[in-house]
Amino acid sequence: MNTEAIRGAPSWHIHPDAEALTRHLARAIVRMADAAITARGAFHLVLAGGNTPRAVYAALVSGGRRWDAWHLYHGDERCLPPQNLQRNSRMAESVWLQHVPIPRAQIHDIPAEMGAEAAAATYATILPPQRFDLVLLGIGEDGHTASLFPGQQWGLDPTTPAVLAVHNAPKAPAERVSLSAWRLQQSREIFFIATGSGKRDALAAWRRGEEIPAARVGVGATVWLDAAAWPET
Ligand code: 6PG
Repeated sequence: MNTEAIRGAPSWHIHPDAEALTRHLARAIVRMADAAITARGAFHLVLAGGNTPRAVYAALVSGGRRWDAWHLYHGDERCLPPQNLQRNSRMAESVWLQHVPIPRAQIHDIPAEMGAEAAAATYATILPPQRFDLVLLGIGEDGHTASLFPGQQWGLDPTTPAVLAVHNAPKAPAERVSLSAWRLQQSREIFFIATGSGKRDALAAWRRGEEIPAARVGVGATVWLDAAAWPET
């Protein structure tokens, strides 16, 4: 496995509003999928959780293609029953995946209903040996990303597990599973998505160079945001 993490400062792509961001980001994801499939026969994509990506996933229903070569993973999951509406997998399924013919065997949900420890150990065995093609991530108001939270373990060292059991998360539910920082970085591209004034403080902390999970994972990433989230407005 290529252990070189993505280097360099993030690039900030500011869009006038969430609708414009959604349109451009969905197109960018499809372009990346086409390029990966043409070059390597498959597109390995890690999905972001939370609510922000919902509109992008919905836009992919009509904008996506060559679905038979898409392979999907989750950056993190909440330890809830599979059909619970708060599950990240349930959100992606309801707005996107149930509407497109990606082979079910290529949609890799985190079995978080097993409990954090067992799910983390199991999920580590299904991750692809190679780098992902694209990792999508959100950012929380406290600067967390996936389920990597300030003051907890982020898994920066590539000799640590690729998938972490998360306990006492400050964002409910407390029990979660998350890809580690180093495993999230093993990707050709990382896109963060942030919209709304609620993300302004976290992005400002990132730009100040503060030690937050999003900044450590997001070295060399592209941050897709709307004007409301941009701290300099
Ligand atoms: C989760 C997410 C988490 C999310 C951020 C932003 O399971 O909660 O993985 O990292 O991306 O908290 O959430 P919103 O997009 O809902 O603001």
